[in-house]
Amino acid sequence: MGLKNRILASTPSAFVEDHAVYIYLSAPTSSSMLFQALSSLLLALTASASPALLPRVDAPAPFNSSLFKDFNVSRGLNYHYYAVPADTGKPTLLFLHGFPSTSYDWRHQVAFFQDKGYGLLVPDMLGYGGTSKPLDPQHYVSSLVTRDIVNILDAEGIDQAVVVSHDWGSKTASRLANYFPERFLAYAFLVVGYTTPDYFATPFEERLSLDKAVLGYERFAYWNFMASKGADQLIMNNFDSFWNTTFQNDTTKTITSSPLGALEVFFRNDTAVFAADYVTPEERAIQMEAFRQGGIVAPLNWYKVARYPYEQQDDKSIPHKNALIRSPIFFGAALRDYITASAPVYMAGALVASNYTATIREYNSDHWLQMALPDQVNGDLLEWIEGLGL
Ligand SMILES: *[C@@H]1O[C@H](CO)[C@@H](O)[C@H](O)[C@H]1NC(C)=O
Ligand SMILES: *[C@@H]1O[C@H](CO)[C@@H](O)[C@H](O)[C@H]1NC(C)=O
Ligand SMILES: *[C@@H]1O[C@H](CO)[C@@H](O)[C@H](O)[C@H]1NC(C)=O
Ligand SMILES: *[C@@H]1O[C@H](CO)[C@@H](O)[C@H](O)[C@H]1NC(C)=O
Repeated sequence: MGLKNRILASTPSAFVEDHAVYIYLSAPTSSSMLFQALSSLLLALTASASPALLPRVDAPAPFNSSLFKDFNVSRGLNYHYYAVPADTGKPTLLFLHGFPSTSYDWRHQVAFFQDKGYGLLVPDMLGYGGTSKPLDPQHYVSSLVTRDIVNILDAEGIDQAVVVSHDWGSKTASRLANYFPERFLAYAFLVVGYTTPDYFATPFEERLSLDKAVLGYERFAYWNFMASKGADQLIMNNFDSFWNTTFQNDTTKTITSSPLGALEVFFRNDTAVFAADYVTPEERAIQMEAFRQGGIVAPLNWYKVARYPYEQQDDKSIPHKNALIRSPIFFGAALRDYITASAPVYMAGALVASNYTATIREYNSDHWLQMALPDQVNGDLLEWIEGLGL
């Protein structure tokens, strides 16, 4: 397994001093602040008009069906989430899933932690499962999604929580640290690490060229397909193939399907790939049903905000002083995920923490670490959480 504790080096955009990494950002311009104000206004006007198609696909055991809740956040959108109250003296763990997922992605962690007295908050993220599915990508920018999450914490009377995140959920966890550091005790990032406030400032095409130069392939070129018109139809028309590709057992194939346009050909051609075996047929049926009911057009907005400048604009409102995470972090690197290429050497630029507080674990895993190696991940998370001295 080669589990290791590792400390990451500083990067060109950062320097280390007093055992902490500092990241520099440019100040938000007044035009970007105006943009912020206008988009908030626009969102306030359109949010409540979004489609209210909310499938009720509560995850089965180990989730307890009587513990799912719905909450209308301050911008008028519904969030569906799983909430287990914490025993006295135990923290609440907030689990944030990515794409294409729902709260069900955390089934192995829910099974493990709910009997140990930890509080759990496991939302269906915006666009997914029982949560609202606005179609306009502007609803999905981090300043708004993080406020929704904090609204839920407030509604639950939770002052501070420990975040555990995966995939696009890690972007949200990063922004929770940037916008609401006082509300979180510690951050665990699985597979996708801390996304710095200036990450999206580099234009998409530039990031592709950079990856091509460093890795030899354009690992994020598939965002272009995910963010394109008609991607939802193409995915739903080849849904089995899409699901196999997402959970494929031979992750080296993601390298050949990563160049611009390749993923689209892959689906159009219904290319045969085989899914990994850590998702049982029953679990797969539950996962897929959530998307048959809720569709994939809203979830694809998570790619649109990243591919196009929505997130880039939105991130300009992050306060400078919050660019550095000043709380303990855990990073679980998946060594066989060639898209996130999350081996620590590639994560060095993204992971920001003091060397006192960064716990790094490496796993011989693909992208779906929390499902592929649940026992190891749960054990490592528990050890890390217990070690926080909360
Ligand atoms: C943190 O890093 C600095 C510089 O590399 C080093 O001097 C210091 O001993 C480290 N502290 C810990 C607790 O590892
Ligand atoms: C589910 O949660 C409810 C409410 O807390 C509780 O009464 C019930 O015993 C739980 N069911 C199981 C199977 O744990
Ligand atoms: C949600 O809250 C907004 C105000 O924030 C309100 O206008 C709307 O009616 C509420 N929707 C539901 C379904 O309760
Ligand atoms: C598409 O499928 C055909 C027939 O299976 C195959 O010959 C061709 O190489 C495939 N093209 C790509 C780009 O995968």
